[in-house]
Amino acid sequence: MADMTVAYSPSHGLGEEQSIWFKLTPLLNQENPMQVLMALSDKYNGVIPINLKNQRIVLLSEPQHAERVLVSNADNYTKYFDGLRPIFGNSMITIDGALWQKIRTPQQAAFHPNMFEEYFPYLMSAIDSKMARWTEVAETGETVEMVEETWTLAAEMVCKALFDREMPFNPHFVFQQVKIYTDVMNHKSIRLKNQRGELVEMTAEDTAKAMEVWHSIPETVIGANAIDHREKTLLKMLEAAEADPDFPEFDHRQVIDEMKQYLWAGTESTALTLAWSLYLLSQHPEAMERIRAEAHAVCGDADPEWNQVQQLSYTRMVIQETMRLFPPVWALIRIAAGDDHIQGHKVKAGDKVVILSYIAHHSPKYWDDPEKFDPERFAPERAKKRVKYSYLPFSAGKRACIGGALSQIENTLALVQLLRRFTPEYVGPVPAKIHATVTFCPKGGLPFRIRALR
Ligand code: HEM
Repeated sequence: MADMTVAYSPSHGLGEEQSIWFKLTPLLNQENPMQVLMALSDKYNGVIPINLKNQRIVLLSEPQHAERVLVSNADNYTKYFDGLRPIFGNSMITIDGALWQKIRTPQQAAFHPNMFEEYFPYLMSAIDSKMARWTEVAETGETVEMVEETWTLAAEMVCKALFDREMPFNPHFVFQQVKIYTDVMNHKSIRLKNQRGELVEMTAEDTAKAMEVWHSIPETVIGANAIDHREKTLLKMLEAAEADPDFPEFDHRQVIDEMKQYLWAGTESTALTLAWSLYLLSQHPEAMERIRAEAHAVCGDADPEWNQVQQLSYTRMVIQETMRLFPPVWALIRIAAGDDHIQGHKVKAGDKVVILSYIAHHSPKYWDDPEKFDPERFAPERAKKRVKYSYLPFSAGKRACIGGALSQIENTLALVQLLRRFTPEYVGPVPAKIHATVTFCPKGGLPFRIRALR
């Protein structure tokens, strides 16, 4: 194991000057941020070193870079999560080394595919709530913001399936609160610099208040009544780790932080994927029809049963293609613990290294006609030909997403069920504008009208 001491100043806020998100703001805060990054990557052969006065950032975009940083030399790269600690606390997603392994191990079982059948009715029940809401929305004809719609669905899925709780909070409110924090471009320090002291709607108090709301959520979930008193839930696994006398590090604070991580990392990316897939499907009605036809062929008019989910293969390919075009986690950030060499470039201890998954996902070197929406490229025969690490929606190596397989089940079921009853019509500008912050968001959201089919 490499020495994990890193040469950078720890614990800064997301919008403070030391934050990498702050430093990248000039690159990202423009009309077409991804085109700029892709052009730079092309010009510099996939390695873009940026030297700022006290910090070097190395932007990387080739599959072999991802392999080096995330897999073969992963121990040399620690996670960069400073600005996100108010959201994730010290949960596993933020920790490195032996403690990370210790914290992850007791939770791993909750994400084994043999648990999914148990989650299935709870995922379906969360989708039922969304359908009930959309029935009302379809009647009023109001415009809804799709990321908010899908985020609330994903949050309900996590609460029901993983925690055995009804969602005991108003997800629309909580979602808005956390967005206040993660929306880096709005942070006071950035705004003051950009707008010469012209204070608009946001203050530091707003972000503090938003975080207070957020911190209260896990205890509210724990305190709510269990739905079915299931024995094998993620929450039970967290509580068992807390009760284990041989595991003093896993205290109550750890349980709370892990829950925060699931309520954010386990919901926002799933929600973005579903929202972007609905956006793409509204531009490709033939693909929407194909999902409906597949659902009919597999399930008839009935709801899907667990043993039919695997057969919904086109729907799953739509989700995979969505994550290629709009990877919710579009940049993976690490800090070099020791020196390294990447494609002839020296990486020095303390450098921040950013793997730009988005660029590999859109590179003509690895994908035919990369900007085309073509779910069939994920058909097994074609997927076999893919260059390894050219597709990284869930990262790679030991720190890869724990919930990737679960999220695909969640979104497959959601697409099938929602599209058989509704046509969500995107009513915003085409193409949708991008807001690349910590996650790959649509600028100003994705407005939709919902039409009921029956
Ligand atoms: C489309 C949906 C999702 C996407 C695109 C996604 C993406 C990712 C990525 C890229 C990472 C690695 C971040 C890094 O290396 O810096 C990650 C980690 C993680 N994700 Fe996901 N995720 C999704 C859904 C979920 C779900 C459903 C859960 C749980 C309910 C989840 C829980 C986690 C956790 C706990 C980690 C940290 C793992 C570790 O550090 O050991 N994610 N996710």
